[in-house]
Amino acid sequence: MKYLSQVMLLLFATFISIASFSQQKEPAKMVAGIPVNYDEALVGTYTLPDLMTLSNGAKVKSANDWLTKRRPEVLRLIEENQFGKMPPRPADMHFNVFDKGTPVFDGKAIRKQVTVYFSKDTSSYKMDLLIYIPAKADKPVPLLFEISFSANSTSVNDPGIKAGEVWTKEGKKIPAASGVSFGKLNVEPFLAQGIGVAVVYYGDIEPDYKKGIEFGIRGKYLKPGATWTEPNEWGAISAWAWGLSRAMDYFETDKQVDAKRVALQGTSRLGKTVLWAGAHDTRFAMVIASCSGEGGAAISRRNYGETIKHITDTSRYFYQFAPNYHNYGDDPSKSPVDAHMLVALMAPRPVLLQTGDTDVWSDPKGEFLAAVAAEPVYQLFGKKGPGTDIMPKASQADLLNTLGYFMHAGGHGTIPSDWNIYLDYIKKYL
Ligand code: GCU
Repeated sequence: MKYLSQVMLLLFATFISIASFSQQKEPAKMVAGIPVNYDEALVGTYTLPDLMTLSNGAKVKSANDWLTKRRPEVLRLIEENQFGKMPPRPADMHFNVFDKGTPVFDGKAIRKQVTVYFSKDTSSYKMDLLIYIPAKADKPVPLLFEISFSANSTSVNDPGIKAGEVWTKEGKKIPAASGVSFGKLNVEPFLAQGIGVAVVYYGDIEPDYKKGIEFGIRGKYLKPGATWTEPNEWGAISAWAWGLSRAMDYFETDKQVDAKRVALQGTSRLGKTVLWAGAHDTRFAMVIASCSGEGGAAISRRNYGETIKHITDTSRYFYQFAPNYHNYGDDPSKSPVDAHMLVALMAPRPVLLQTGDTDVWSDPKGEFLAAVAAEPVYQLFGKKGPGTDIMPKASQADLLNTLGYFMHAGGHGTIPSDWNIYLDYIKKYL
């Protein structure tokens, strides 16, 4: 009972912080003592770093120039200045497929569960993957792979999932409350179309709070006595993205999965995470980023909604980024990177930016403008982005291009109808 109420409180607190912006009628004018602008006239003017010019001044003229010269520069700049450096795959990582294929959903799918151990020691540093394969599949299947705020056992409606655990702020893992979650993922429409579904709980990789580093995977890499102060040290978003790459390491070994066709999906801070994971690890074939906002797909140089100063305030989400990112709070124009660069790193792979018209804190227009600015890179590969700089209306579904944009009518996060859009997008591009 004590556990249950702790979990409820923890989830409730997180949920409030996630959902508050969609519920607020009047968005807060001040966050962490920093004013928030919602007036387009006061956004300011800015010049974005040029995607098509190399640091030596030479111009990017071809897809090959992009892939071999400019892309590595942009990747390094984002790593150094925004999310922080990830370590390589650990040598002693290993997998345990503890659920090898149980028929579920009236025989429509088989369920697999796998523990990925990040080190030799099996008592800590591990994550559980939950995977559904369409029962009818006679060859490896593409995957929708979601990184979730909920433990696997509360992510999908299936009583056979191993009971998950979530973190308390004291760094203890406690059972995930049954019945409390951020809403269940409806996997059956994907399975019916021959698409497998996999889920991972982000907290298995790294807890989502300031002191999380002591308990998550980043702690494993901290040298004894060291603190997290290196300017390009990895923040929690890099840790979550790193975990996704470790999941990909597993998918590459699973004969039922087509690892070359994995679409990552995540919402909000996990929208930022999937963008960074897909940018960093080109094994991911597609990214669907929901309401990723500041530090994700929204242009930081626009003073609208959340800014670098808000997000990297030490009372807020400083720990999710490299310490360097904080340096650009007072003047984002000093940063060598912006969101169009993060988006462009996906090229030529499909990326869908989904926003919400009332989710002003995440700046849906800032995400659209990042897509507009990243489009020239897609064009190098003969692929399409928005093709216009006129901001689309809510629910307008004609910008679902390889570099796609879709704004639902509503607030922060995914709404049920977004999943139909994702399904169509996956069918079209994966
Ligand atoms: C806060 C934060 C956002 C983040 C969001 C979320 O609102 O300011 O940057 O995207 O939480 O993860 O729900």
